Amino acid sequence: MKICVLPGDGIGPEIIAEAVRVLKALDLGIEMEEAMLGGCAVDATGSPYPDATQKLAQAADAVLLGAVGGPQWDNNPREQRPERGLLGIRKQLGLFANLRPAILYPELANASTLKPEVVAGLDILIVRELTGDIYFGQPRGIETRNGERFGFNTMHYTESEIRRILRVAFEAARKRNRKVCSVDKMNVLECTQLWRDVAIETGREHPDVELSHMLVDNAAMQLVKNPKQFDVMVTGNMFGDILSDEASMLTGSIGMLPSASLDANNKGLYEPSHGSAPDIAGKGVANPLATILSAAMMLRYTFADEAAAGRIEGAVKKVLAQGFRTGDIYEPGMTKVGTREMGDAVLAAL
Ligand code: IPM
Ligand code: MG
Repeated sequence: MKICVLPGDGIGPEIIAEAVRVLKALDLGIEMEEAMLGGCAVDATGSPYPDATQKLAQAADAVLLGAVGGPQWDNNPREQRPERGLLGIRKQLGLFANLRPAILYPELANASTLKPEVVAGLDILIVRELTGDIYFGQPRGIETRNGERFGFNTMHYTESEIRRILRVAFEAARKRNRKVCSVDKMNVLECTQLWRDVAIETGREHPDVELSHMLVDNAAMQLVKNPKQFDVMVTGNMFGDILSDEASMLTGSIGMLPSASLDANNKGLYEPSHGSAPDIAGKGVANPLATILSAAMMLRYTFADEAAAGRIEGAVKKVLAQGFRTGDIYEPGMTKVGTREMGDAVLAAL
């Protein structure tokens, strides 16, 4: 078992350090090697996804990533922006299936901005297509046309791209409550009419799973109105980007949400759903739990070690029950801790 560890930018190195400690404590014989991705890589090599990192990531069984990005790189040319590194590694490794679970831990019911009865017991899985759509579509650019600037991007999907992500969603639903809601914008966009057609076809292969469809604007509304109606939600790259941030806040803090990005053979990249949080970077206050839970997802999906994954998740539940809280999930009466102390608490609970 070999993993490539990419701390990245902002709070990335701090939260990754805690996840690495947890993995080491489990003593599973996992080999870990670190490399650079994102802004730190741009500064050191000129590229957000340098060759050395590509080699390591391709050779590893899994990649554990902190986060990339920060304001200091926002004005770089596009190919030298941290986000390019992230999109590059997703595309190069063929990580088309992004799983973003949004689970509300009962201890955090009050951390959500929604009423506890709306979110209590929430357990949604967002399955986001990750290597297609308008994120990667050509042509794209900003040009001068007819004497003014003209910006354009292209949304496209092949039916095979749609079918494979729908299949992931149906398979996931079979292990849960057997409901898939496919999200599109078929009333306006042809590309997503195809999405709906293929979703219906793929649904026929999975008669034991209930399939519904929702337009993306309605889905955004339903997520805050009655989020518990959803089990698995499957959608394209851009809609999934937006809806998964929205879903994360139902749970109180995006600082709690792990994610897995998988290829067809369960090789995966595991990262917290949140970003690099430059405003709190280096202060030791970031919540490392999403990254620690991402390491658990790695053990489950890539290494098929359900027991070890369960141990990490159990330890996280325990520290929440013990009242340890980083700033993002803090409420009066709880014990406020920093990144390292939260890591310590998880290790103790393990
Ligand atoms: C995410 C992020 C990325 C995305 C950015 C950083 C490129 O928002 O993983 O959701 O848009 O996919
Ligand atoms: Mg996003």
